Amino acid sequence: MPFYEGIGLIAEKNAVVIELGSAFTKVGYAGEATPRAILPTPELPLDDEEALYDTLFELIHRVYFKHLLVNPRDRRVVILDPLIGPVSLKRALARVLFQHFEALSVLFAPSVLMPLVTLGRATGLVLDAGREEAVILPVYEGVPVLKAWKATPLAGSKAMQAEVGRLLQACTVKTNDGQIQPVAEAPQAQLADDTIVEDIQIRLCFVTDLERGLQLQKIRKDASQVSGLSSFLKKTVPAVTYPLPAGHTLLYVDGMTRESAAEVMFEPDEDGRTLASLLLDAIIACPIDMRRELVENVVIVGGTSMMVGFKARLFQEIKHLIKEENYYQEKMGVLVDQFKLHVTPTQANFASWTGASIFGATDAISTRSFTREMFLKEKIIPDWSDFRFNQLYVEEKPPT
Ligand SMILES: Nc1ncnc2c1ncn2[C@@H]1O[C@H](COP(=O)(O)OP(=O)(O)OP(=O)(O)O)[C@@H](O)[C@H]1O
Ligand SMILES: [Mg+2]
Repeated sequence: MPFYEGIGLIAEKNAVVIELGSAFTKVGYAGEATPRAILPTPELPLDDEEALYDTLFELIHRVYFKHLLVNPRDRRVVILDPLIGPVSLKRALARVLFQHFEALSVLFAPSVLMPLVTLGRATGLVLDAGREEAVILPVYEGVPVLKAWKATPLAGSKAMQAEVGRLLQACTVKTNDGQIQPVAEAPQAQLADDTIVEDIQIRLCFVTDLERGLQLQKIRKDASQVSGLSSFLKKTVPAVTYPLPAGHTLLYVDGMTRESAAEVMFEPDEDGRTLASLLLDAIIACPIDMRRELVENVVIVGGTSMMVGFKARLFQEIKHLIKEENYYQEKMGVLVDQFKLHVTPTQANFASWTGASIFGATDAISTRSFTREMFLKEKIIPDWSDFRFNQLYVEEKPPT
């Protein structure tokens, strides 16, 4: 037998990489650039341990036997770990993988570090705008600065989707008998279906520039206070027709809906904080000598950040805040022109997955994984928030 064939037999099979997002689960093999499948994540009942186990079991079963077609016993697994997320979910996932599918080992890869892995960097300011929320976390030399962690549900696509659904109620539909009706009065307009609203949000809506955005926010609060309203409204983008599946109905999505829906992501919350102010607060929460490097290495990932105009607007907002507000001027004034954005090598919605795929193809998979034997012995998985696991696992084990 030729030498290389022997190597093929003993070489370890590629690990399975799973990212369990609140909207989409990305799955594939370590060492590959893109996931093999992106599937909708089912509703996860976090409060009910057994129901959660069953839901995860069904999901992972589909992943192994429908999408990846591998024997779970042969493969190590890499799971993206959101760091600040429910530990119950992590533990239930480990139970499913180890007890039911008998996976060889599980490597929990901190999801915030993964976009940096794709860039080969150890320092950066990571913003992940997903479905439920946008999370900001600075990372310095591979260590997440947890005290600077910031999150806002306003900049998640869920908040924007609700806004699109609300604005669409004011649009009109053309039914197949030629009648034009307001959406609210047309039962054929199946807007109750979230997938249609999400599709409209992704295909037709965009983030406008700062000047128009601020004006739109004023209009949303009180249109009567805004001068030159009609000429402002006329300058918006054209309406677009969107075919609805039921009865060949056409929905007219007007320009203002397309332009203003995304404003909800940039408006101040109840405490007056915006996405841009949270990002600056996260930098200010870090020691002063880290700040320049963080500002020069901004990494933005997550599906919501793929919205047209999102990144440009965020940077406009940041500059505006630093120039206009004394507090930020004082703290960040010298760095105002230093903000630089990295472009991840793969699409923003699975850039973290790609990082984990690279991580899972390195030595870390054999040196840092939590093995089935360890799990069966301890019946618990390590978590940074638990003091017992804040040191190296091996060091902690009592001598046998
Ligand atoms: N091309 C796109 N343009 C705009 N928005 C998009 C695009 N693609 C996906 N999205 C939005 O991104 C969201 C999913 O992003 P992502 O996959 O990062 O979420 P997730 O990781 O499942 O959620 P979370 O990070 O909150 O757990 C969807 O809800 C969708 O609305
Ligand atoms: Mg995500």
